[in-house]
Amino acid sequence: MRIAIFNQKGGVGKTTTALNLGAALNRSGNPPLLIDLDPQGHLSSIHGKAPLDANQSLFSFFQEQHTLRELEVDWEHIGRLIPAHQQLIKVDSIFGKGPAILNKLRHGLDALEESQPDRQCLIDCCPYIGVLALNAIFACDCLIIPVSTDYLSLQAADHITRTLQVLEPVMKRRVNRYYLLTRFDRRRRMSDDVRNKLRERYGDDVLDTVISENVTVAESPSLNQDVFRHNAGSTGAHDYRNLLGELVERGSLPVTMR
Ligand SMILES: Nc1ncnc2c1ncn2[C@@H]1O[C@H](COP(=O)(O)OP(=O)(O)OP(=O)(O)O)[C@@H](O)[C@H]1O
Ligand SMILES: [Mg+2]
Repeated sequence: MRIAIFNQKGGVGKTTTALNLGAALNRSGNPPLLIDLDPQGHLSSIHGKAPLDANQSLFSFFQEQHTLRELEVDWEHIGRLIPAHQQLIKVDSIFGKGPAILNKLRHGLDALEESQPDRQCLIDCCPYIGVLALNAIFACDCLIIPVSTDYLSLQAADHITRTLQVLEPVMKRRVNRYYLLTRFDRRRRMSDDVRNKLRERYGDDVLDTVISENVTVAESPSLNQDVFRHNAGSTGAHDYRNLLGELVERGSLPVTMR
């Protein structure tokens, strides 16, 4: 299964969710492949060995110099990573917006998965709609849309929903999506307000799991760690374990939990 984590609003917890859902999968005995599809390369920085050479990054896949398999690197305690490079920012201008480029990641993953059909794949997207994010949307089986609990995030959730409505006739399928509340603060009424509004609009597509505002989640990237390694007993670890459990229960991650 391929899950893309996307919202064109910045700082809502996309990378944090890719990292910690990836770690939760690994701890359940299902090490995933993480793809850093963001020229900012935040996920690759947390991995700790972001490539200096664009030729060792996802950029080189778009340039047809390497296959996805050739770009994978190990990520201890998580699984595997295909790292990003700032050159990815050029993909839009170099390759245009034709159907071939928009389906490139999908075809690359089809080929990669022939030998590893049971491995789960998480794609950390950049915070804007362009060729990169469209590649993720075209390639994925399901989208996680992190929505941080503030009012501007609600607008951003509506925006991406409208974008999907435009894309779906082109893709000839409905993109399964889950809205995930992040940075949830139970002490603030706004958090409940945003959750209620999101449920009114998107019903069952809103996950029951919420990711709380949590210091362990915020600190762990600076130590090149996921939330479980930093503090497996933290609220953040608990939340991301629940997220995995709910996605498995809803049939969007077909894994057996260890
Ligand atoms: N649940 C949380 N509790 C506390 N801090 C969090 C939480 N989730 C994310 N953060 C912090 O918020 C900031 C933004 O998170 P993150 O980088 O995951 O967002 P993003 O959507 O990937 O951003 P961008 O759009 O720039 O890629 C980071 O400093 C991260 O550590
Ligand atoms: Mg990010």
